[in-house]
Amino acid sequence: MILTTGGAGFIGSNFVLDWLAGAGEPVLNLDRLTYAGNLENLASLRGDARHVFVQGDIGDAALVARLLAEHRPRAVVNFAAESHVDRSIHDPEDFIQTNIVGTFRLLEAVRAYWSGLPAPERAAFRFLHVSTDEVYGSLGKEDPAFSESNRYEPNSPYSASKAASDHLVRAWHHTYGLPVLTTNCSNNYGPYHFPEKLIPLCIHNALAGKPLPIYGDGQQRRDWLYVGDHCAAIRRVLEAGRPGEVYNVGGWNEMANLEVVTTLCAMLDAMRPRADGRSYREQIGFVADRPGHDRRYAIDAGKLERELGWKPQETFESGIRKTVRWYLDHQDWVNNVTSGAYRDWVGKHYGD
Ligand code: NAD
Ligand code: TYD
Repeated sequence: MILTTGGAGFIGSNFVLDWLAGAGEPVLNLDRLTYAGNLENLASLRGDARHVFVQGDIGDAALVARLLAEHRPRAVVNFAAESHVDRSIHDPEDFIQTNIVGTFRLLEAVRAYWSGLPAPERAAFRFLHVSTDEVYGSLGKEDPAFSESNRYEPNSPYSASKAASDHLVRAWHHTYGLPVLTTNCSNNYGPYHFPEKLIPLCIHNALAGKPLPIYGDGQQRRDWLYVGDHCAAIRRVLEAGRPGEVYNVGGWNEMANLEVVTTLCAMLDAMRPRADGRSYREQIGFVADRPGHDRRYAIDAGKLERELGWKPQETFESGIRKTVRWYLDHQDWVNNVTSGAYRDWVGKHYGD
């Protein structure tokens, strides 16, 4: 079996669902169930013996050691993290605890387990660390896209904590020989995306008749990748990546935030027109910029294509259409998520 951490979050739950729909190899899923973890994402696996869920912290060394000894996974895929930049600005402590200290404790528990494996299993074992393109910092207008050899220049508490975790993973390979793989991916979107991030927030607000908040001038640029494509990239790297290597993952799809939101509005205008016949674009509003807001990310995913043959299957057009369809068909999921902690957060962050 494999062990996933953070497999009740956005990308982790997509990964677990896709994994069990395909390979069928059992998954031990360790997740602390923070505000971002949602077992409803995995509801379709209820009664499926191939999915074993454990609520717990990657930083709980005794728990992780016990789980490894009991279940003897052949690989660990580490999704667990605090992942929202705005939250990291308001309250960085949890980011340090989970993303840095948690990754450290997880690496140590995995190292002890891996060291005790018989030689063939030790050689075949993999620790895949799921990271972000944000560790590379912000690009100038004309700069080439991030490659794996770009310098780390993280600018937010989130990206700094992810950068630190990437360095720990690298060091555990270099020093102890742990067979690690690191993926640095651009912005994902798709089903089960918590509606605090740009795309699901705007879909939710549009349908609720609320403003679509664009930070600053909306000209910050990001690369966008459909979550199913990211999960396929992780499976490919796990299967054939070279231990110690880093692979950038991206959609070859760089867009300004304002363009992302106007595309979303056009899609919603066609798929769920407003009752008054006007465009959702009228709900767009500009709000105060994020402090330290990175201006541009772009990712060169050429290494992953050349070496392992992965490239994204979805265009932004096809991926965003699927995503809007999913949200329209899963308003009950959105309603469940938007009650409780999420509402408190929106009030704290956006005020009125
Ligand atoms: P998410 O916030 O939706 O989910 C994170 C999950 O981790 C949640 O289920 C949460 O309960 C769990 N978790 C948090 N702290 C934990 C702890 N201490 N122990 C165990 N579980 C814990 O995040 P996501 O968007 O699914 O991102 C998953 C990973 O991918 C993260 O490492 C993130 O940095 C990385 N990533 C995300 C994106 C993106 O666009 N969302 C892009 C690139 C990389
Ligand atoms: P987000 O989804 O938070 O991802 P990240 O910060 O990890 O890239 O934000 C994506 C972009 O959208 C980012 O440039 C910030 C911007 N943004 C807004 O303009 N308004 C919003 O309400 C949010 C949440 C994000």
